[in-house]
Amino acid sequence: MEIIITPDVEAAASIVADIVEAALAKPHPILGLATGSSPLATYRELIRRHEGGLSLAHATAFLLDEYIGLEPGHAESYRSVIGREFTDQVDIDPARVHAPGVHEASLPGACGAYEEAIRKAGGVDVQLLGIGNDGHIGFNEPTSSLGSRTRIKTLTESSRRDNARFFDDPEEVPHHVLTQGIGTILESRHLVLVATGASKAEPIALAVEGPLTAMMPASALQLHPRATIVVDEAAASKLKLADYYRDVFARKPSWQTWT
Ligand code: F6R
Repeated sequence: MEIIITPDVEAAASIVADIVEAALAKPHPILGLATGSSPLATYRELIRRHEGGLSLAHATAFLLDEYIGLEPGHAESYRSVIGREFTDQVDIDPARVHAPGVHEASLPGACGAYEEAIRKAGGVDVQLLGIGNDGHIGFNEPTSSLGSRTRIKTLTESSRRDNARFFDDPEEVPHHVLTQGIGTILESRHLVLVATGASKAEPIALAVEGPLTAMMPASALQLHPRATIVVDEAAASKLKLADYYRDVFARKPSWQTWT
């Protein structure tokens, strides 16, 4: 794992945007997009770069997860959020922005179809991730199998509370989601997890330096040959080896590029 500690949110976003921009040099880049607050600064930075000439016209995107039970087009559905915050503001073809099919007649069928769509597209090049306060990635809550595939999950009350800030009424937060599994996420070629703020310090320390365990789903990144964790000082504040990570990054050889 590569741990990059940045002074602030903007510096973190700039590094994550560099990684995405490098992937966009491919003829058919496949991006894995997360929602929530963590990647917002990265999306703003990519929009800024798009205004300066960066094109996403040849890219395809897959969302990590989606709520079950919101009506189609609901403002807080992840499909709406990603459009509003990112994809509608760049030149990616909206038809190539994919979300789990939570409105299909068969949800298990939609899960299989989503896996198949990712596979047929050639797999995800760069998967952006946030981390929940309980350590979830996607909506793989604690005790999710580290080999899990796209499926229906029930949110913990703690995750529902965390996400209530986006809804007028906390009761509106759905109980169920359709999420890529941990096994699905681990098949992406490069995992990039971004976390900022003091509330992420504990889950980051456990995910990076704690044991590999289904109780801390983000610890599954320890299994991946190419995982980059980008954190600001506040989110890095409980990392025991922070000085080592700073030294590694300062000495990163120039031939070690993002592609
Ligand atoms: C969102 C997702 C979640 C969030 C996590 C952190 O698509 O998959 O895992 O990344 O809940 O959310 P924020 O960034 O809002 O703290």
